[in-house]
Amino acid sequence: MKTVLTYGTFDLLHKGHINILRRAKELGDYLIVAVSTDEFNAIKGKKAYYSYEDRKMIVEAIRYVDKVIPEETWEQKLDDVKKYNVDIVAMGSDWADSDEFKVLQEACELVFLPRTENISTTQIKTDLKSK
Ligand code: CTP
Repeated sequence: MKTVLTYGTFDLLHKGHINILRRAKELGDYLIVAVSTDEFNAIKGKKAYYSYEDRKMIVEAIRYVDKVIPEETWEQKLDDVKKYNVDIVAMGSDWADSDEFKVLQEACELVFLPRTENISTTQIKTDLKSK
């Protein structure tokens, strides 16, 4: 059985989120999603509309998702991979140039999936403000 892990805030769910979760699940058999907590988002300078508990509940309801865990720090990734016997970490291609996932190179496979064009949570918030 192949376990896949991905990270994200997943606020104001949109088709880009669904696409990446579907593609991530297609890489293996069991998909774990690490959802950023409100405290971790504050560290990142982000503020989600929905609370962590609500985002967790929503992501858990997606048919491709088998388990949701909290993303609480930048440093937890290697521990997550070991703890859950992760074979593949899958992220959107916006992370491909970042050093953030380099620490996992020896521990598992790293896959960067193409982002869905023309949609993001930030864009939704901007569009709603201008209405
Ligand atoms: N993602 C994607 N296509 C999009 C938007 C997001 O593939 N159009 C992916 C990201 O690459 C990431 C995951 O979805 O792997 C979760 O991203 P998240 O930051 O929660 O979503 P965004 O819409 O990018 O949010 P924001 O605008 O706040 O950065």
